[in-house]
Amino acid sequence: MEAALYAPGLGYYSGGAAKLGPAGDFVTAPELSPLFGRCLARQALAALEALGGGAVLELGGGSGALAEAALAEAGAGLRWLMLEPSPELRQRQQQRLGNRVEWLDSLPAGFRGVVLANEVADALPVERFTIADSELRQLGVRFDTAGAPGWALLDPPPELAAAVQALERERGAPFPEGYTSEHSPLLGPWVRSLAESLAAGLVLVIDYGLPRRELYAPERSMGTFMCHYRHRAHDDPFRWPGLQDLTAWVDFTTVAAAGVAAGLTLEGFTTQAAFLAGNGLEEMLAAAPGGTAGIMQAQQARQLLLPGEMGERFRVLGLSRGLGPALAGFGLLDLANRL
Ligand SMILES: C[S@@+](CC[C@H](N)C(=O)[O-])C[C@H]1O[C@@H](n2cnc3c(N)ncnc32)[C@H](O)[C@@H]1O
Repeated sequence: MEAALYAPGLGYYSGGAAKLGPAGDFVTAPELSPLFGRCLARQALAALEALGGGAVLELGGGSGALAEAALAEAGAGLRWLMLEPSPELRQRQQQRLGNRVEWLDSLPAGFRGVVLANEVADALPVERFTIADSELRQLGVRFDTAGAPGWALLDPPPELAAAVQALERERGAPFPEGYTSEHSPLLGPWVRSLAESLAAGLVLVIDYGLPRRELYAPERSMGTFMCHYRHRAHDDPFRWPGLQDLTAWVDFTTVAAAGVAAGLTLEGFTTQAAFLAGNGLEEMLAAAPGGTAGIMQAQQARQLLLPGEMGERFRVLGLSRGLGPALAGFGLLDLANRL
């Protein structure tokens, strides 16, 4: 998965495919509507005011749509930093955003401000596992005699075996025969690295995902690993390696636990719909222009908010250091007790 997404020049995120938007493979919330970025800007500005200053650091900014909408909402005073590992996306962002944004090559030390990561955690490479003949197996990749790739059942490396054992201890029973799912070895370390970089402020992780108990529930017996190619979701990563996106849902319990273990405070965990509503989405709609533009905005807002669209599948988790008042995004609905 790491090679298919990140191999220099060949991986999905390092190559030149269109990726985001109508001409690409999937549409993210910022691509769908500027309302998303405007709501995030409001939350970021409130957090920066509580902090007494600071910047926004966006991780994995895709086409630059979120930054563009947020900067338009916030006005000239907001400093926006971007960390984008894909050279191709970075170039696109630079063309779109010009000198309104500063690009970084690594996480800054002693950062003060708001870190935003929309649909980044689901792009971290995962390990797949399955239970076959009552044994834990790692799902690896083999090439047949004609050179075609396919799944191989391998002995699990010790780290994966320990991670699955921990999941089984938590659920109080071994996974049943045939149960197949994923473990993200990089998720905890990624959150830890964000915590280490954050001297004071807020981290918002936004993505499709669930609390661990729900992610590894009996009914999710095929896991959540997915491929996205030209707006079709399917489960065969060998079809167009390097040309399609590969993702898995995020274990938000790990995000929260890794952040708290690194000294951050859990600000809240909620649905995208509740987070956007808490940050004024409805007032923005009420102030929308009439006519076709207004109708289009209302349609986009429905896609951001409706449970069957992005409203509930996408979650927002906030972690903070040295932030005072509660955040509006978690005021309407806080699901932190489910983590
Ligand atoms: C699915 S796209 C989301 C883009 C954008 N945030 C949006 O919502 O439209 C994933 C983005 O994360 C970037 N990315 C992947 N791994 C990353 C990492 N470890 N740190 C920061 N960004 C990463 C990709 O290059 C890409 O820009």
